[in-house]
Amino acid sequence: MRRIDFIEPFRVMQLLERAKELEKQGKKIIHMEIGEPDFLTPDAIITAAKLHLDQHNQFYTPSTGAPELQQALSNWYNTEYNVKVSPDRILITPGTSGAFNLIYAVLLEAGESVLLPDPGYPCQRNFIRLAGGTPINIPVGPESRYHLSAELIEKNWQKKTRAAVVINPGNPTGTLIQPEALKKMASVCSNHDGYLISDEIYHGLTYCTKASCALTFDEEAIVVNGFSKRWAMTGWRIGWIIVPESLIDACRRVMQNIFIAAPTLSQYAAIAALKEVQSIENMRLAYDERRQFLLNELPKLGFDIVVEPQGAFYIYANVEKLTNDSKAFCWKLLEEKGVAITPGEDFGVFNAASHVRLSYATDMAALKEGICCLAI
Ligand SMILES: Cc1ncc(COP(=O)(O)O)c(C=O)c1O
Repeated sequence: MRRIDFIEPFRVMQLLERAKELEKQGKKIIHMEIGEPDFLTPDAIITAAKLHLDQHNQFYTPSTGAPELQQALSNWYNTEYNVKVSPDRILITPGTSGAFNLIYAVLLEAGESVLLPDPGYPCQRNFIRLAGGTPINIPVGPESRYHLSAELIEKNWQKKTRAAVVINPGNPTGTLIQPEALKKMASVCSNHDGYLISDEIYHGLTYCTKASCALTFDEEAIVVNGFSKRWAMTGWRIGWIIVPESLIDACRRVMQNIFIAAPTLSQYAAIAALKEVQSIENMRLAYDERRQFLLNELPKLGFDIVVEPQGAFYIYANVEKLTNDSKAFCWKLLEEKGVAITPGEDFGVFNAASHVRLSYATDMAALKEGICCLAI
């Protein structure tokens, strides 16, 4: 088989297409399958972008990003996490997706591997395959809050393994990793001369305790983050990656070739985004209200939530009491109850048939209606 044959589609897209078809036929569908904020990008960010557009700020920035944004992010790490990061280690990318494509292109030779949690964010596997690497999917469950652990990394690390990935808070599980566990993971990776890659895109969307930045424990950790979720800027395609000094030059060369630079207008909008306080706090509070509503209602309907999700906007539920085939179950819910949720198989194979992901990036009225439909 060729490399491209291993690239899987996002399976939930089929479900989404069917949902759209049903909507066209006049049926009301409650969307709890989508992992995209339902909020509009805050006004101040739009205003800043308009200003730059009016000034014809249209040219490429340096490949590693607009220096003002690199500096603003460096300051932001200082205030947000009390971590010192020099601006030239922060590379601005087209979304975090761009950051992952960049780092895997830099790190991986054919046949080298990366350790991933299963269930986990599905694109990761495909980014690694596209770079010629091998994803190693490791089953994770409630005992490690659905994250890899130091023990799992140690046990599964092979001669050709280059890195292990943590998504904190997790997608699809919304669970946070404990700081101590993250610290241990970082130390196992560096003992093997490898990297801990920390996907921190859901940082800031946490509801009990703050998520830890991997750089707090490991200066050499590779941190990926972006504006899509916390700042409701999915379509702006803007993110960043923090790499160790030793990787900057390779990253710059790859950036120059594959992207030239991240979108200029989005970079200037991002500088304004970093100044937002109240607007992003309001979104966080709204997500938390929805989360608490679902945590209360779902167990009554047979959706078991084994580890309380404290971040992102997802709930990963065990549906064993309701079905032994979560895929068929999700299709049935869509056809018969007009509620769209994502089957476990989108996130891996481990216990996939007994799990589903529900997203609360949907307004409260819709969630209430969704729960009513599920209850009938
Ligand atoms: C865990 C995780 N990482 C990365 C991404 C990609 O985000 P973007 O490319 O919009 O920054 C997503 C999007 O859903 C995600 O859930």
